[in-house]
Amino acid sequence: MRRTLFAGAAALLAAAGTFTFVLTRAEAATQTLQSLAAANGRYFGSATDNPELTDTAYTAILGGGEFGQTTPGNSMKWDTTEPTRNAFSFTKGDAVVTFAQAHNMKVRGHTLLWHNQLPGWVSQLPATEVQAAMENHITAVATHFRGKVFAWDVVNEPFNDDGTFRSTSPFYAAMGTDYIAAAFRTARAADPDAKLYINDYNTDGLGAKADAMYNLVKTLKSQGVPIDGVGFQAHLAIQYGFPSQMQQNLQRFADLGVDVAITELDVRMVLPRDSTKDATQATYYSNVVKACVAVTRCVGITIWDYTDKYSWVPSTFSGQGAALPWDENLQQKPTAYNAIVTALGGTVSSPSPSVSSASPSPSRSVSPSPSASSSPPPAGSCTATYKIVGSWPGGFQGEVNVTGKTGWTVTWTFANGQTISQLWGGTVTQSGASVTVKPASWNATPPATFGFLASWNGTNAIPAVSCS
Ligand code: XIL
Repeated sequence: MRRTLFAGAAALLAAAGTFTFVLTRAEAATQTLQSLAAANGRYFGSATDNPELTDTAYTAILGGGEFGQTTPGNSMKWDTTEPTRNAFSFTKGDAVVTFAQAHNMKVRGHTLLWHNQLPGWVSQLPATEVQAAMENHITAVATHFRGKVFAWDVVNEPFNDDGTFRSTSPFYAAMGTDYIAAAFRTARAADPDAKLYINDYNTDGLGAKADAMYNLVKTLKSQGVPIDGVGFQAHLAIQYGFPSQMQQNLQRFADLGVDVAITELDVRMVLPRDSTKDATQATYYSNVVKACVAVTRCVGITIWDYTDKYSWVPSTFSGQGAALPWDENLQQKPTAYNAIVTALGGTVSSPSPSVSSASPSPSRSVSPSPSASSSPPPAGSCTATYKIVGSWPGGFQGEVNVTGKTGWTVTWTFANGQTISQLWGGTVTQSGASVTVKPASWNATPPATFGFLASWNGTNAIPAVSCS
């Protein structure tokens, strides 16, 4: 599927409204995208798909606390759930639900009706049978997942980019625009508790397509059609500019009396990736998150998977990629990740995430300090290596690398009154000069790294660090 965007028409969104809150040490220890979003009354989620659920390094992060919501990227679509007429298969969707339930993640159902990923038999139906087949499909799928999904993308991508209805949809071809109201009514009857959404791309900012969606939602509301929300996919690309006035656009939909959500966020670039593109990408992530946070009825943000390893972008948009906040080695990109954290009101290791480099380690003007032994520890024990990776008047950033056994505890005693203000990758307790760090749930198995920010004055000696 080819996406065209209106280049040049976009203006960078200056996020209106700022908010700040200070994290206590206990809160900082558990700071995740989800915890920060939850502090704003929202969720932060990642899409996923069945093949990658066998990748344990991947699932450790997916289910490790960063995300409070997931969307199955493919497993609830028509070609998967009803490949043959009236023969339903929910195995793949159930697997995503099971993973989500085991990891405190809620599920957005995606999607009941779309012109893509339809089995051939649907397109071959005589027009007179389309409505019955459509209602049968929606009823069966929404009934199966009732109580397991909190929301459904009932209708996906009804519009062309110019705001006309997509006539290639077999539902539109058979029923005209009436298919939309019928789909929502059928979904409501099957699952009265799920929030029912319409979802599209290139509607994120003001423009002809967003106007068409706005007018449709307004009409549906005036007709009493049970629509609860509008999803903005936000498949963005830095070479096309940021959507025009995204916050205002979300707000005008909210003012119609519906929820809004960012449902499939990713920010791609023309490869190769470099630090300038990363910095631009970070501003896009920041702007989207700030737009959602600024609109009371924006209920949450979902990125379209969290890692470039499983992004749909490279196989869809030739020569493009690097769209997600974690790279293909499952490493966080400090630029994009920190931009999201900051936009959610959290605190980050780098004071200026949008200008930090693409390198995974911070580049401050202090040379790394001498560290402890790097020889492998005996079985059943562990070794921790402490270093200062950046320092500035009054503050510094430290990093500790742990090797050895799973389930480590690292301790040290500061000699010069240093105090940790924030720590990531673990849970910290500081009592006077004594520091104890235990791993975050996803970080128990070495090689593990945690980082922290701390204050210092006068002297900043490297402490002796123990691991047990
Ligand atoms: C994509 C999936 O991520 C891919 O794996 C699949 O091959 C094609 O569909 N808009 C949507 C999503 O609503 O369902 C699409 O997901 C991405 C664009």
